[in-house]
Amino acid sequence: MDCKIFPSENINTNHLISDIPGDKSISHRAVIISSLSQNRVKFSNFLFSEDCLNTIKIFQSLGVNIKINNPQHKIEIEGVGLYGLTPPVENLNVGNSGTSIRLIAGILAGQKFTSVITGDSSIQKRPMKRIITPLVAMGAKIKGEKQNNNIYPPLKIIGAPLKNIEYLLPIPSAQLKSCIMLASLYSLKKTIIYQKETSRDHTERMLKLFNADLKIKDKTIEISGSKKLSLINSKSTSIAIPSDISSAAFFMVLGLILKNSKLCLKNIGLNPTRNKIAHILKEMEGKIITTNFSEEFEPRGDIEIKSSVLKNLKINQDIPYFIDEIPILAVAAMFGKGKFIIRNAQELRVKESDRIKAIVNLVRKMGGHILEFEDGFEITPTGEFQDFELDPNLDHRIAMSAIIGAIAAGKTALIKNCDCINTSFPNFFSILKKLNIKYDIL
Ligand code: S3P
Repeated sequence: MDCKIFPSENINTNHLISDIPGDKSISHRAVIISSLSQNRVKFSNFLFSEDCLNTIKIFQSLGVNIKINNPQHKIEIEGVGLYGLTPPVENLNVGNSGTSIRLIAGILAGQKFTSVITGDSSIQKRPMKRIITPLVAMGAKIKGEKQNNNIYPPLKIIGAPLKNIEYLLPIPSAQLKSCIMLASLYSLKKTIIYQKETSRDHTERMLKLFNADLKIKDKTIEISGSKKLSLINSKSTSIAIPSDISSAAFFMVLGLILKNSKLCLKNIGLNPTRNKIAHILKEMEGKIITTNFSEEFEPRGDIEIKSSVLKNLKINQDIPYFIDEIPILAVAAMFGKGKFIIRNAQELRVKESDRIKAIVNLVRKMGGHILEFEDGFEITPTGEFQDFELDPNLDHRIAMSAIIGAIAAGKTALIKNCDCINTSFPNFFSILKKLNIKYDIL
């Protein structure tokens, strides 16, 4: 599916957006951790995107009973306990999801059976040595495709008894941290994970909800599998997932750039390890306020945005807290004043695509000026834009950033193969329609 964006004259710039979909990271963890629990758990505002549907399918093929109510965004999971998964008949397929493959590999490593886990052509290019090294140190047996000093999917995981480790994370990756935490549920003694820099803490929060044997002291995590996972409050088995701030970010940026706009995004996840994008945009002098804040297992609130003149920044720290928002931030920077610099973000090279290359390509196609570094980029806004055509190479966030860029610039753009948007934001186009944006799906 290709999408053509046209200049829109009557954009509905005063709008309340109440259907940003559920958080992807939390939806994955909802399925993964509830499946291993002793409870029957219901989640609302679950993200029914391709990535999360693949996680559901994987746990169904591992013997977990999961009922889905897609139109109402609800899911009900009947946990089988830590030792209740059954061998899958076929290879497990995560599609495009790095979170699924890395988190689930941690669980498969501790099973009594062998399994193979793989995904699409983008997943087969994503490095897995980062998880294989600590898992092997815990006693796991994993085979993958060796290439260029790394290991890639498909991964054959021969389940084995796991032992505890003490591990200093070499990179601030929530997927790596979560993989080790989930594997440590299968080792009785205490695993200690040291972090130089913290990253999103959804696994920690979800495991706490299920009363795991988990202690967090500053940047150190101590966890062991000595306990069954069982909801802290056995009466509250219905859990509401907040909407995804990474998806909201596309409309935050659009609202800031469009003239005379006033958008309100409802019920957005404001976990402090995820809401850095809002802080950055505020620091760029974006008019953003958060209201109706509520502190639940995952904090949430509404985000109000008004048209703003953005001032660009140099950012080289806290990258894990807004890593997924860097493509749309690059689009925002093209409309800002002054140089915009991102450094220390080499992890962007190994996301759904090489996102530094993809951002450089997008900015140049839009008519902007950008320098590429190994660990980031520098944008000098030109104030000039042009019509463009782009293939996002299976990367949902690049596809959506390109679409928002075209709308904000008032240009015509052909974005090829944008089915990948279904990875994280299945109703993206329906929100464009509500904003009265002109587009054709080809
Ligand atoms: C995620 C962690 C991040 C992020 C990804 C989702 C998660 O990846 O980029 O989209 O849900 O744990 P890394 O942990 O590899 O940085």
